[in-house]
Amino acid sequence: MKVTTSFLELREARESLKATVGLVPTMGFLHEGHLSLVRAARQECSSVVVTIFVNPAQFGPAEDLSRYPRDLERDLSLLKKENVDLVWAPPTETLYPADFQTWVDLEKVSKPLEGAMRPGHFKGVATIVAKLFNAIQPQKAFFGQKDAQQAAVIRQMVKDLNYPIEVIICPIAREGDGLAMSSRNVYLQPAERQAATVLSRALFAIRQAFEDGERDAGQLKQIMQTIFNQEPLARVQYISCADPVTLQELESIENQALFSVAVFIGNTRLIDNMLVP
Ligand code: PAF
Repeated sequence: MKVTTSFLELREARESLKATVGLVPTMGFLHEGHLSLVRAARQECSSVVVTIFVNPAQFGPAEDLSRYPRDLERDLSLLKKENVDLVWAPPTETLYPADFQTWVDLEKVSKPLEGAMRPGHFKGVATIVAKLFNAIQPQKAFFGQKDAQQAAVIRQMVKDLNYPIEVIICPIAREGDGLAMSSRNVYLQPAERQAATVLSRALFAIRQAFEDGERDAGQLKQIMQTIFNQEPLARVQYISCADPVTLQELESIENQALFSVAVFIGNTRLIDNMLVP
C-alpha cells in the first residue's frame, strides 16, 4: 500500500494503477462503515484508492472541525489489512491554498434537510468531491447511504458535470443494537450511547408501519415523533419523508420514499435514514 501526501506523488502513483480504479473518499477515523465501502471497492475494482482528508469547507463555524476525531496511524493499518493500493492524505493547504476561490454549489438538491440545517455544508462536500474526482480520476466511487442527501448531491453533480464515474452507494453499516456507524459516535457518553438507538428504532418502526399498509407521510412521521418523545435525551431537529432523488417532501408514498432524521442526543448531532420500501 502506497501512502502519499503531495499532488506530485499522487500523480505518479495514480499512473501505475490498473483500471478499474475505485475511489473511497473519507475524512478518516475509519470504522466498519468505511471498511465496508473499501471492501465493496476491492470486490468491484482492480485498484482501490482511499483518500483521508478532514475537509474544513464542509464544517460550519459552530461545528466540530477542531475536535473532529483523527488517527492517521490507525487508519493506515486498517487500510493495509484491506489490501488498499493507494492512500492519499494531503494537508489542507494542498487542496485549499490561500487564494482558493472556485466552488461547486448545487441549486436544488443541496438546499433542504442537512442543507437547511448546515448552510454551506454541501457546497463544501461537492467542491471537495469534485477536486478528489479530478485528482484521482476513478472509474467508480463509493459512498455510504448513511449520508443519503450527500449521495443524492454527488449523483446530481456527476450528472451535471459529466464525470465519467459510476457512483456506488453502499448500505448503512449498523452496530448490533441498530445505531448507524459514524465517526461522531465516539462523542456519546454511555447513557447517550444507549439513548442513540432511538434513531434506528424509530426508522425500523415506520418501515414496519409501511409494511402493514400505512402510506400517509404525516402519519408515518408521527409514529417516529412519538418514539422520539419517549426518549428524554433526544431532541429532534427534523423528521423528513422525501423523494430519494430530489429530496422534495412527500405527502404520501407512491413509489419509494427516503425517511431521514437529525436528532441531538445530548450535544451530539446524529443523522440516520431508511429507504421505504
Ligand atoms: O462522507 C464523508 O466522509 C465526506 O463528506 C466526504 C465524502 C469524504 C467529503 O469530505
